[in-house]
Amino acid sequence: MSERARPLVYVAMSADLVHPGHMNILRVARELGEVTVGLLTDAAIASYKRLPYLDFDARRAVIAEISGVSQVVPQETLDYVPNLRALRPDFVVHGDDWKHGVQAQTRQRVIDALADWGGQLVEPAYTAGISSTQLNMALRSVGTTPDTRRRRLRRLLGAKSLVRVIEAHNGLTGLIVESTHLDRDGKREEFDAMWLSSLTDSTAKGRPDIELVDLSSRVRTIEEILEVTTKPLIMDCDTGGRIEHFGYTVRTLERLGVSAAVIEDKVGLKRNSLYGTEAGQVQDDVDAFCDKIRAGKEAQVTSDFMVVARCESLILGVGVEDALLRARAYRDAGADAVLMHCKDKDGAGLLEFLARWQREERRVPIFAVPTAFPQLREHELAAAGVGLVIYANHLLRAAFPAMQATARSILEHGSAAECEADLLSIKKVLALIPEATS
Ligand code: SPV
Ligand code: MG
Repeated sequence: MSERARPLVYVAMSADLVHPGHMNILRVARELGEVTVGLLTDAAIASYKRLPYLDFDARRAVIAEISGVSQVVPQETLDYVPNLRALRPDFVVHGDDWKHGVQAQTRQRVIDALADWGGQLVEPAYTAGISSTQLNMALRSVGTTPDTRRRRLRRLLGAKSLVRVIEAHNGLTGLIVESTHLDRDGKREEFDAMWLSSLTDSTAKGRPDIELVDLSSRVRTIEEILEVTTKPLIMDCDTGGRIEHFGYTVRTLERLGVSAAVIEDKVGLKRNSLYGTEAGQVQDDVDAFCDKIRAGKEAQVTSDFMVVARCESLILGVGVEDALLRARAYRDAGADAVLMHCKDKDGAGLLEFLARWQREERRVPIFAVPTAFPQLREHELAAAGVGLVIYANHLLRAAFPAMQATARSILEHGSAAECEADLLSIKKVLALIPEATS
């Protein structure tokens, strides 16, 4: 034991949704001595589960006011050891629920570290009947607000080495993005945000991707998605339209709770980028596009909203040098991030751009759309310097062949009997979207 006047007690917590279980731990801790709370940072939490609802400062403001808490320090990793070595507490207090399962290893490391200076682990019985997981589920069923949702994309970019985004083009695909997850090695894998693709939004409406589906119609799609989800949404705004109109679009999106507008540096009839140079697309003049970025930034009301400049230099074959020049100019005009599009089969142009971008002193996050080079995995993209990856069209592309095969099968057999086994049962369809019970 140390020579301190009162023993030092360390408690680590996320404290996003504070409940009686937390209070019990803090009560036990304060009976043992002077309490230091190691508050997990957003990045530490995002390394294994969903970003907390409240950001670090808000969580600290709550915990710091709880009686008996002497100080709050950031805990930057899930692992307690760096903070324990720095503070050398006499006690660590944690609920006994971590003896088994994925946290058992973290617990053992705490025990081993404490042994170095004779510290002790105290484990009060876990408070049954209430948990952050249950509260999270309840909160999700309540939904979110435009402010909370909008802010979340910036928070994710700050907390995660790679933000994972996939397209949604209606309520159902929004629900898939919201709820699909898997648990691997104690880590929850899920999508962080949604991409409202112009390609899939148009295609789902049976229209070509040429800015034909107007803003009112696209806003209807957005509302449909926002109605049933809580994750942030990034809007593919095509060219952003006329400069005079773009500011109004930003205001509309911002009011709805959309987090970012992506505009691409093309003029004339916009065609999908994956045509590459085939479509005879014309790139916008750098200065004119910078004016459009500025118009968007000047129009936004909150500091959370992001205007993302999408550069088509690699798509149009004008090279990495041009891409760099434009990325710098767009950043200087106020773009919050740059989407560097690329359709090389090996992503070579993007990788070359990224290697050079890393040497820039003032960097904004780089978004990537790896449709043409799916073999580049997330960890490779992140290592190359991508901050956000967009799976831009995959749910629509998955659904279309399945729907077409079913239609063909019915025609071929004069019956639905042959395709029945491939379909979701009606029972499951009905269970897919539970009715509100109150
Ligand atoms: C979209 O999803 O509509 C995009 C990305 O703009 S791409 O289709 O690759 O151009
Ligand atoms: Mg598009």
